[in-house]
Amino acid sequence: MRYENIHNLQIPKIGFGTWTIGGRDRADPSGDEKSLRALRSALELGYTHFDTAENYAAGHSEELVGRAIREMGMPREKLFITSKVEPDHLQFDDVLRCCESSLRRLGMAYLDLYLIHWPKTGMNYAETFRALNQLVREGKVRHMGVSNFNLELLKQSAALAETPLLTDQVPYSIPDRKYVENGVLAYCQQNDILLTAYTPVKHRFTQGNKLKAIAQARGVTTYQIALAWLTTQPRVITIPMSFNPQHQAENLAAADIVLSAEEMAQLNGAFDM
Ligand SMILES: NC(=O)c1ccc[n+]([C@@H]2O[C@H](COP(=O)([O-])OP(=O)(O)OC[C@H]3O[C@@H](n4cnc5c(N)ncnc54)[C@H](OP(=O)(O)O)[C@@H]3O)[C@@H](O)[C@H]2O)c1
Repeated sequence: MRYENIHNLQIPKIGFGTWTIGGRDRADPSGDEKSLRALRSALELGYTHFDTAENYAAGHSEELVGRAIREMGMPREKLFITSKVEPDHLQFDDVLRCCESSLRRLGMAYLDLYLIHWPKTGMNYAETFRALNQLVREGKVRHMGVSNFNLELLKQSAALAETPLLTDQVPYSIPDRKYVENGVLAYCQQNDILLTAYTPVKHRFTQGNKLKAIAQARGVTTYQIALAWLTTQPRVITIPMSFNPQHQAENLAAADIVLSAEEMAQLNGAFDM
């Protein structure tokens, strides 16, 4: 595994996403065995960064992540757990209350990273960051960050955070360069902020011809090349999700593939499907 070394931390280039673990917008306990199997195999394979949120399966995702970790006897300090507060909960008291609820569902004393999940129009973020700063001071949150924040909001957040913002978690993949075009990636790279790429492989682009050619030449899958395109970039990490242990293993291994400048340039060009 390759890591990003940042603010005295080592964060794995590839972590594990948990959207659909435990359900979607609502908890769906009928899928618990499948979800727990996926989490157990991810832990066994060596994933240490788990990305969840209070609104994934209405909190059930956090419950299952916590349960799988406890049942596997994984030492808390070896793991890096991210959760997120949703946009309707960004008032001071709500942030404090929601963080407590996430910790209770996870069965943990602290979060490694707590993110504002989405911006909310008209929100006074001074209020939100006052709560996040307090959570860091109290040791309930180790690091804070944001998600889906554009450049202006990211700069505003960096000014309000008492400790360095660790990440902006945004959609980023070969066909989706919105956060390159809006300047967020460059700002992150210049200011020691991680860009966490979400939805890195979901769409049909993984069947593109350029990806296929590079994957074939290296004897790996197109999904691995799509992930390596992200992890080859400085200050970029990613959090693919998979229920399939084979895919999970391939995704983890993709962190060790460093693409050449020529391969990156080929994939940076106009993308053919
Ligand atoms: N902050 C936000 O607003 C936000 C938004 C969206 C997502 N996220 C986070 O980012 C994580 C990842 O994004 P995502 O779940 O949207 O999409 P994704 O990880 O890009 O794609 C997941 C899909 O790709 C398939 N897949 C994964 N690896 C594969 C492989 N090696 N080979 C073949 N198929 C593979 C999975 O199927 P199988 O199960 O069959 O492998 C699954 O259907 C989420 O789980 C969540 O934690 C955050």
